[in-house]
This record gives sequence, structure tokens and C-alpha cells, in this order.
Amino acid sequence: MKFFVDTADVDAIRELHQLGMVDGVTTNPSLIMKSGRDIKEVTKEICDMVDGPVSSETVALDADGMIREGHELKKIADNIAIKVPLTWDGLKACKALSDDGHMVNVTLCFSANQALLAAKAGATFISPFIGRLDDINIDGMQLIADIREIYDNYGFETQILAASIRTPNHMTEAAKIGADVATAPPAVIKKMAEHPLTDKGIEGFLKDWEKTGQKIL
Ligand code: E4P
Repeated sequence: MKFFVDTADVDAIRELHQLGMVDGVTTNPSLIMKSGRDIKEVTKEICDMVDGPVSSETVALDADGMIREGHELKKIADNIAIKVPLTWDGLKACKALSDDGHMVNVTLCFSANQALLAAKAGATFISPFIGRLDDINIDGMQLIADIREIYDNYGFETQILAASIRTPNHMTEAAKIGADVATAPPAVIKKMAEHPLTDKGIEGFLKDWEKTGQKIL
């Protein structure tokens, strides 16, 4: 499973990138707002650091507007994936932009039918939002499983990009189902390294090591 980082925080991306954990980045208007930076400037900085796809989101509601914004965002760098919402107009924009050879990430997907339409429209990535479904008491992970089954049934090449990931458990479950990519906030990726038994184990080993009176360095 590829790891994308869901943030526009350049320092956080850099830290994970140095560990080889970053296969791509996803941003959205809320994350750009949170960064407090100019969209083109911050996105360019991210694209210069990361080789993989960097999703940058359009904000127009009509297909023509999305296509025009997509072309503008694409000027930032070659590795931009243009993000459009899963509306009828978003699907029109997806088809036009992907026919033009651009990577397209269709976002705000909340149903298997929406994912099916995005694949038909040539999306490079489909972004089903797990956490936001869980928030309204619908099993977000079941949606990932349903899309996996449907895409596999017909050999669709659209990559499932599990999004709105809130917990390390979401990462495990998405990986078990076979999501192609998971995009998670840096804090969730870092939490994946934590285990109380690891901490307890280190504590025990250090106590015993002290008793030996030895030093490694
Ligand atoms: C995905 O591309 C979105 O940016 C993101 O995963 C949304 O997550 P949220 O529901 O935590 O805002």
C-alpha cells in the first residue's frame, strides 16, 4: 500500500519523506487554509520535495471552471494530481482532464456507485472518505471493501485512495482490504509506530542492562 500524507505542512512532510514514508501528498482547501500559505507557493514547495503525485483541489462547481482551475494548478508542477469533487460536473471534468493526460483524483466519494462512475470517467484515484462515514455511523471501511470488489470484478485501473483516515486502525484495515493508497495525517502515520509493549520492553531491557554495568559506546 502506498502512503500519501494528508497535509500542507511542509515540515511534517519533510520529516516523513526523509524516512521514505511519502509516496505522495494530498491537500484540500481546508488544509491549505490551515497552512496559512498561498496555495501555489506551498504546493510548489511540496512538489519539489516529493516525486509522487501531489493532489491539489479545484474549487469551482461547474465542469468548465474545474477544468480551467485544473490547468492552472497543473502549471505548478508535473506531479500535480488535479482533485475534483464527486459531482456530475466533477465527473465531466475528470473525463476531460484524464483524456488530456492529467492525473485526476476524484474526491469526496461516499458510495460504491460514485466510485464506479469515477472509474468509468477515467479517474486516476478515487478518494472514499472513511472517517466522515464513521462519523455518521456508517461503516467507512465497508465502502473500501465494496469498491475493491467492484474494481477487481471489472479490472478497473483507478486506484483506491483511502482518505479521511483518523486512526492507525484505519490504516491496518485499509491495507488488509487492499486499498492501493492510504492518505493519512502525519500524526496518524507516526502513531502507527507506537505500541505499549514496545515501550514496556525497552524499559525492562534498560533496567537489566544497567545491572550489567556495561557500555556499548
Ligand atoms: C483527502 O484527500 C482529504 O484531504 C482528507 O483525507 C479528508 O480528511 P478529513 O475527513 O479528516 O478532513
